[in-house]
Amino acid sequence: MKPEVSFDRLARYEGNVPRYTSYPTAVQFEERVGFNEYKHWLQAFPEEEPVSLYIHVPFCDELCKFCACNTQVVHQVNVRVAYGNLLCDELKRLATLLKSRRKVSFVHFGGGTPTTLPIEAMKKVMSTIRSLFYVQQDADISIELDPRHISEDYLVLLPSVGFTRVSLGVQDIAPEVQKACGRIQSFEMISDCIDRVRQKNIKSVNCDLIYGLPNQTAASVRETIDAIVTLRPDRLAVFGYAHVPWKFKRQTLLEGEILPNPAERFEQRQIIDEVLKKAGYRVIGFDHYALPHDSMSKAMEKGALHRNFQGYTVDQAKALLGVGASSISILPQGIFQNQPSSYGYQKAMQQLDILPVVRGVQRSTADLFRWEIIERLMCDLHVDLKKMIGQYKQDPSLLGEFLKKLRCFEEDGLVIIRNNEITVTEEGRPFLRNIAVVFDAYYRAAPHRHAQAI
Ligand SMILES: C[S@@+](CC[C@H](N)C(=O)[O-])C[C@H]1O[C@@H](n2cnc3c(N)ncnc32)[C@H](O)[C@@H]1O
Repeated sequence: MKPEVSFDRLARYEGNVPRYTSYPTAVQFEERVGFNEYKHWLQAFPEEEPVSLYIHVPFCDELCKFCACNTQVVHQVNVRVAYGNLLCDELKRLATLLKSRRKVSFVHFGGGTPTTLPIEAMKKVMSTIRSLFYVQQDADISIELDPRHISEDYLVLLPSVGFTRVSLGVQDIAPEVQKACGRIQSFEMISDCIDRVRQKNIKSVNCDLIYGLPNQTAASVRETIDAIVTLRPDRLAVFGYAHVPWKFKRQTLLEGEILPNPAERFEQRQIIDEVLKKAGYRVIGFDHYALPHDSMSKAMEKGALHRNFQGYTVDQAKALLGVGASSISILPQGIFQNQPSSYGYQKAMQQLDILPVVRGVQRSTADLFRWEIIERLMCDLHVDLKKMIGQYKQDPSLLGEFLKKLRCFEEDGLVIIRNNEITVTEEGRPFLRNIAVVFDAYYRAAPHRHAQAI
C-alpha cells in the first residue's frame, strides 16, 4: 500500500532547514575567508571554461512586506545611476583579476527589482559586460521584473541588449492576500505584462508564486493557479513563504496577520502541484515547474540540472561570479559574499583594487562530495551513494552512517534504498530539503537559522 504523508509525518519534517542553494550553506560563511582567497581561486579558474555572472540590484519601487531578499525602496535616479556605475567598476576589477577575456554563458540580473536601473545605466552595464567578456551567442540572459513597474520603453530595451528571459514576481492574485502583503497587482496587469514581454520576442517567461502567505486559503490558491496557468508561463517557481522576521524586519509588518499553519501550507502546495501537472508542466525538483519545450525540462531529462543561489538552473558553468551588493560568487574552491548593504558596498568600493567581498567559505573535497550528493538528489531525485564515496575517495564507513539516517525516510515511504542507491519517491519530493539534511555535516537545528522546510 502506498504510504501517505500524514499530518504527524508532516509535523516531524516541518522544522527549519536550509534550501541548499549551496553547500556549505551561507550559515558557514566566515569573515576570515575573503578577498585574498577569492582573488587566488579566480585566477586559478581554467581560462577555457565559461563563467556565469549574477548581477544584484537591491532597489525596489515599493516595499513588499513578505520579501526576504536584499532590497530597499530607493526612488532617487542619481542613486540608481551611481549604483549602475559601481556595477561597471566592479565588473572591470573582476575582469582585470581574471587577466584574459573569459566566455560568459549565463547572466542573471536579480534583486530587488533590477529594472530600477535607469535605461541608460542598464545599457552601460550590458555594454561593459560585453566589452570585458565574450558573451556567447546562445547565452541565457535573464532579469527579474515587477509587473507593476515596467515601462514599455524598458520592455523594448531588454531584447535590444540581449535579454532572453524574464521572471515576474506574481506570488498570489487574491485581493485579500495582496492587501496583507502590500503588493497590489491585478491578474489583468500580470497578463498584460506577459503579453507585452512576448510581443518583444522574449521567448521565455517565468512566474514566481508563493504559498503560505497571510490570508491564503486552499480556495484562493486554487483560484490563483487556475488563472495563472491560462497564461502558460514557460516556467514557474513555487516557493513556500519564508517567514524570517529576525533577518528581515519588514516582515514584522505582517505581525497580526494570520499565517497558514503547516498542514494548510502543505495543502496549498499540493493544489498548485496538482493543477500544474494536469496542465502539462514537468515538475523540477521541489519548487520549480516547466513546460516540456523549456530548457529546464530538457536539462532535467538529461540529468544536467543544477542548483545555485537562484534555485534550480540549467547553467553548466563551474564559476558563478556575483556582482553588486550582497551577491554571492561560487568557485569550485570556495563561496564568497559581497558587502550586503548598498551603503557598505559603496564604501567597500571606495577602496581601490579590491573586490567588495566580506565573507566566504573554503570548500574541501568532503564538502564537494556532500554537495554533489545533495545536488543530484535535489535535481535527479536519485543518487548512487557507493559510487559517490568511491569517486571522491571518502571513508567507506560513511555509507552505513547515511543509510542509518535515511531509514526513517524509507519507513515513511519518502525514499527507496536499493543497492546503496537512493531514489526519492513522489511522496518524498516535497521533503527533499529534509532528506538533504542527512548529508549536511554542519547542520545544527536552531530556531532562528533557516526558513520552514515545507
Ligand atoms: C527579489 S524578488 C524579485 C521579484 C521582482 N523584483 C518583483 O518585484 O516582482 C524574487 C522572488 O523571491 C521570492 N521571495 C521573496 N521573498 C520571499 C519569501 N519571504 N518567501 C518566499 N519567497 C520569497 C518571490 O517569489 C519573489 O518573486
